[in-house]
Amino acid sequence: MRQVQRICTVYFSATGTTKKVVTGLAETLKKRMDLPVDSYDFTLPGAREQVLRFSETDLVILGVPVYAGRVPNVLVPYLQTKLDGGGARTVPVTVYGNRNFDDALIELFDLTVSAGFLPIAAGAFIGEHSFSTVLAQGRPDALDDEWIEKLSQVIEDRVKSTEPQGLEVPGQRPYRPYYKPRDRAGHPVDILKVKPKVGEGCTDCGVCAAVCPMGSIDPDDVSHYIGICIKCGACIKKCPEKVRYYDDAGYLYHKEELELEFSRRTTPEIV
Ligand SMILES: Cc1cc2nc3c(=O)[nH]c(=O)nc-3n(C[C@H](O)[C@H](O)[C@H](O)COP(=O)(O)O)c2cc1C
Repeated sequence: MRQVQRICTVYFSATGTTKKVVTGLAETLKKRMDLPVDSYDFTLPGAREQVLRFSETDLVILGVPVYAGRVPNVLVPYLQTKLDGGGARTVPVTVYGNRNFDDALIELFDLTVSAGFLPIAAGAFIGEHSFSTVLAQGRPDALDDEWIEKLSQVIEDRVKSTEPQGLEVPGQRPYRPYYKPRDRAGHPVDILKVKPKVGEGCTDCGVCAAVCPMGSIDPDDVSHYIGICIKCGACIKKCPEKVRYYDDAGYLYHKEELELEFSRRTTPEIV
């Protein structure tokens, strides 16, 4: 196997936590291994048109958030068709909002193998939940940085090793169905069609339209949707005036239930 000459970060990150984890890991590895870092952020729709090709001399940190216990379904076609691993060593990373990552990491691991990468390590980290400002608030934080450091040590050792890596990634195959929010009576709540509304005080700055990963907010009328909403939280958390909000009862119940039920601190997992 050829020597690694470059670290690449490749990530989707609507509210910035996946970016933080992946970038933190790359920076730690850069210091350890004295290699340059190239970054590719595929959060915006235009960035998902280009094919990315890698080679055996690349080490690719690939990060996505966990949506409904899985790799976000809207990203699967991109990961299947626009990434060409070319034998590059890779580290699949998922970032979840303190509930659970369920089968997201194993699914991302499998997607990297299908795309021609060689996974040498993997990690599930925690980021502030996209729906909330209190669930996993401020994460990744200093304690998560210690796990990033640990993972970078594992990666450095494996890059140097000539032994094949049989990784046991947590999760199940076949993957479990997408996690479904439930109401008080335990019935599934359908939040698929729910979209944020725009309150008083919008200055029409257009940030929401610019940051929407689906390009679904009409820049000429930011209260109007021209595509699907994946509830990623980008327009809400990045609105400078904080005027975008949800008022759907099912969504709000789900958010509160998550905040109550999953308030304990979860720890990153690395393999
Ligand atoms: C539609 C959707 C579904 C989510 N599902 C889960 C989940 O199943 N488990 C979990 O712990 N967090 C879940 N989250 C929270 C995100 O995984 C978490 O906040 C992550 O840090 C967001 O990454 P980002 O900041 O890079 O966008 C979900 C978020 C969204 C938008």
